[in-house]
Amino acid sequence: MSVQTVKTTPFTDQKPGTSGLRKKVKVFQGQHYLENFVQSIFTAIGGGHGKTLVLGGDGRFYNPQAVQTILKMAAANGVSRVLVGRNGLLSTPAASAVIRKYETSGGIILSASHNPAGPDEDFGIKYNIGNGGPAPERITSAIFEESKKISDYSILDWPDIDLDRLGGQMVGDMSVDIIDPVADYQVLMESLFDFGKIRALFQSGFTLRFDAMSAATGPYAKAILEGALGAAPGTVVNGDPLEDFGGHHPDPNPVHAKALFDLMYGEDAPDMGAASDGDGDRNIILGRGLYVAPSDSLAALAANAHLAPGYKDGLKGIARSMPTSRAADRVAEALGIPSFETPTGWKFFGNLLDADMATLCGEESAGTGSNHVREKDGLWAVLLWLNIIAERKQSIPEIMAEHWHTYGRNYYSRHDYEALEVAPANALMDALRGKLSSLVGQTFHGETVASADDFAYTDPVDGSVSTGQGLRVAFESGSRFVIRLSGTGTVGATLRVYLERYEPKGGDMGMDTQDALATIITIADEVAEISARTGRDAPTVIS
Ligand code: G1P
Ligand code: ZN
Repeated sequence: MSVQTVKTTPFTDQKPGTSGLRKKVKVFQGQHYLENFVQSIFTAIGGGHGKTLVLGGDGRFYNPQAVQTILKMAAANGVSRVLVGRNGLLSTPAASAVIRKYETSGGIILSASHNPAGPDEDFGIKYNIGNGGPAPERITSAIFEESKKISDYSILDWPDIDLDRLGGQMVGDMSVDIIDPVADYQVLMESLFDFGKIRALFQSGFTLRFDAMSAATGPYAKAILEGALGAAPGTVVNGDPLEDFGGHHPDPNPVHAKALFDLMYGEDAPDMGAASDGDGDRNIILGRGLYVAPSDSLAALAANAHLAPGYKDGLKGIARSMPTSRAADRVAEALGIPSFETPTGWKFFGNLLDADMATLCGEESAGTGSNHVREKDGLWAVLLWLNIIAERKQSIPEIMAEHWHTYGRNYYSRHDYEALEVAPANALMDALRGKLSSLVGQTFHGETVASADDFAYTDPVDGSVSTGQGLRVAFESGSRFVIRLSGTGTVGATLRVYLERYEPKGGDMGMDTQDALATIITIADEVAEISARTGRDAPTVIS
């Protein structure tokens, strides 16, 4: 057994984005690329000595090879013990749950989330801290700084281990425990939800279609929904994780989960439809003929969470990312609890959850979660919906209709323009940023601008400031649009345009979303010069 010190030179592009470092597989396979980043993590966290870590990923192409490399590097960096999901698989929320349960120093998660997988597609890696959540900016910046000056890395000369065999193995002096990726997560879900009531719901004939999109959630959904809760066999479709996710793009939205949408809007729709993404942290929820916008799902879950045992004492607060619709704020107001508006990305929720200031969190990008872990959690959201349905004995469309009747409706949609050229996309942002202050007071198509700014956030717990988090233009009517560039894409630039209009209670709750937003869509295009500057006449994805 020998520790090798390998000479290397820095890469300039290892700055973690919204959720870790994401690049094409081919980039990660390049000489020293993965190793440089992993060594930068170890150096940035003060070395591995005496630490226990969790390691796993969404099962995509290159996941097993990366696990083997990271284990040898962890051993060479003095790590004492690593818990690894069998075959290197751990959904992102399950990794968070395992870090918390075993109180490890942190974990390394291998995922590019909803990005496609395969030899020519994407791979990703991120570090999570001891609370189970994504490393905050001070750590991701330290990793980036290390990556810019790295000159060598340490790796143990040791054979690959058997990732399929549950139990203990050694890599040098470091012990490795291969764990069942589902077991700990399932125990946690059983502690939060009334499995007996949900089982009775399925026994009474309630039908669900859960699309695991050939990605990480399949084993979890099968074990919990079809196993513990007795949903009919076949409830979970695309339930076997494939290294290329079956060639699909595992992002649960109307474009990539089209089969599920078609089913739910068709004649033979089950009572509920749901899907999750590549690494299992996202979710979408559909009722018969109704797609519940993720922002609305957060609001409805917040309003009803007390019906599930894990939340019976109520919520401390609700946090949402800035571009997420303000529907949840109305629920917080009614409950008399605080609401928080954070930048995009789950890492900003960690402090609020740790400080017990917020219980539920959500993002418009199909992410909902709570203080049970420090990641968003797709299957958790499905189970909370099921628990609420079991208690209320109403359909999803009935629950949402009552919700809008009580709180009014925030019509909401996101338009994405993917794979744009980087320079014009940056120029669009610069131009809009430059004219924000002059917009206030101007009227466009009958909508007068009340405020316009570049969102900055001061963390109420540690006082850290994050600037440049998205351009937002709000109108006197309560409508608004927000524009930002994606921090997770790997090809060119992705422009995200978030559109929102509030219809107070008593108004028309049954409009088509795109129709309801038509004026705001036109104004956003004019003010930000979207079609003019991108040359696109329509978004790539509307969700
Ligand atoms: C996207 C979503 C964001 C989410 C992130 C990770 O980031 O917009 O809400 O937290 O993926 O799942 P973006 O590509 O917009 O930077
Ligand atoms: Zn994800």
